[in-house]
Amino acid sequence: MDTYAPDIEKILIPAEAIQAKLAEIGERITQDYTGRSLLLVGVLKGAFVVMADLARYIRLPLEFDFMAVSSYGSATKTSGVVRILKDLDHDLENLDVLLVEDIVDSGLTLKYLLKNLAARKPASLEVAALLRKEGIQKVPLDLRYVGFDIPNEFVVGYGLDYDERYRTLPHVATLKPEAYNTD
Ligand code: PRP
Repeated sequence: MDTYAPDIEKILIPAEAIQAKLAEIGERITQDYTGRSLLLVGVLKGAFVVMADLARYIRLPLEFDFMAVSSYGSATKTSGVVRILKDLDHDLENLDVLLVEDIVDSGLTLKYLLKNLAARKPASLEVAALLRKEGIQKVPLDLRYVGFDIPNEFVVGYGLDYDERYRTLPHVATLKPEAYNTD
């Protein structure tokens, strides 16, 4: 964490606030999913941090799975078409699937994934997202659990990267301009 400290401009969400929110969401999930077959599905790579912490606030037996997706270049940002690089190991039939995301930006990745996963006939399909950028979703999305609505700024930390760095920061933060484009 100290390695990255000089690059941080502003801490948007402190580590303690993230943990408190995840504890609250974990408790809601515990209430909502008692007696059901819960599968957490993480979208790599960013979601691995929130997935690890959130799962430990859920007081239920649960299973994990992960997907890796990639956009088809710049066209994706408008078309919403994503390529599946790593698919799930689980067959979703009869499972209560909770898709875990670190951030919902345009919402196009999520829209694609929800359609794709719904076609596999899970018992239920919901979303938990730590962050949602305010007012920029291009598609209407029904998110069951949302941690924080944040302004439309580029953020790093808690799984989110710039050029694959900063994922290990315990908070969500913005970067100083000089932190960009360094080798
Ligand atoms: C981020 C995030 C979502 C997606 C959201 O992943 O984890 O999957 O972008 O963007 P959208 O709402 O505009 O579709 P990213 O592509 O940065 O990959 P990473 O998690 O591997 O860093």
